[in-house]
Amino acid sequence: METEKKTQTQTNPMADRDLSEQIKKVTKENHIRAENTQLMLSFQRGQVTLPQYKLLLCSLHEIYQALEEELDRNSNHPSVAPIYFPTELARLESIEKDLEYFYGQNWREKIVVPAATKRYCHRLRQIGKENPEFLVGHAYTRYLGDLSGGQVLGRIAQKSMGLKSNEGLAFYSFPGVSSPNLFKQLYRSRMNSVELTEEQRTGVLEEAVRAFEFNIQVFDDLQKMLSVTENQLQNCSTHSKTVKSPQLP
Ligand code: HEM
Repeated sequence: METEKKTQTQTNPMADRDLSEQIKKVTKENHIRAENTQLMLSFQRGQVTLPQYKLLLCSLHEIYQALEEELDRNSNHPSVAPIYFPTELARLESIEKDLEYFYGQNWREKIVVPAATKRYCHRLRQIGKENPEFLVGHAYTRYLGDLSGGQVLGRIAQKSMGLKSNEGLAFYSFPGVSSPNLFKQLYRSRMNSVELTEEQRTGVLEEAVRAFEFNIQVFDDLQKMLSVTENQLQNCSTHSKTVKSPQLP
């Protein structure tokens, strides 16, 4: 791997300047921390439960709604246009299908999200208005993640929850992307074609780190909500008269 990398930078001395290389490098530590959150560990161990997954879907709905509305609104912005792939990547409709599968037709009334999800969405809307170029950092973090580890996580989730082939798992399926690896290459080259001043480039890199941190905070908050509910459920069975019903739908 090291030799491959050296060869790449020797043959192309500008490779180190590529946004796609820089963004991967600056978010490496954050990626490790994201993988090691309780929620992501449950996924990897094949222990994700239905309540966990349903709650995660609610937050993903709010996050992708904000991300995709801001990308759509800024689709002609010079920094956004090269990485704007709604046909191939947009997740909102898939998430809505999954929510309907798990919660039924009135799923909109059942959406519950923690404070961290609200902060994440607020940031997406703010940069959509004030610094659309920073959306590159957010789109990278979510979409390239969904096309990478996300593909494995989808298969594990299916087994863990005993779902029939892909029922309720539209989120993980990208019918417009025939090869995730080739698509990721295209996406990286489009990221590298975005023209940014030094200041903007630093801003995009910082924003990608922030995007990972928002995700970590969402996972941690979801885990807290779930453990509160589990405790309530346990208490319900032993002291059913004194404890209120759990708040999750
Ligand atoms: C890439 C695994 C969680 C964002 C990858 C890759 C793997 C992976 C195997 C491919 C690495 C490569 O091609 O060099 C996992 C696992 C996770 C997880 C097992 C959790 C269980 C996340 C999360 C995010 C994320 C929570 C962000 C919200 C990314 C991104 C990439 C990536 C942006 C592309 C890196 C690049 O090529 O620049 N992940 N991941 N991942 N992951 Fe994750």
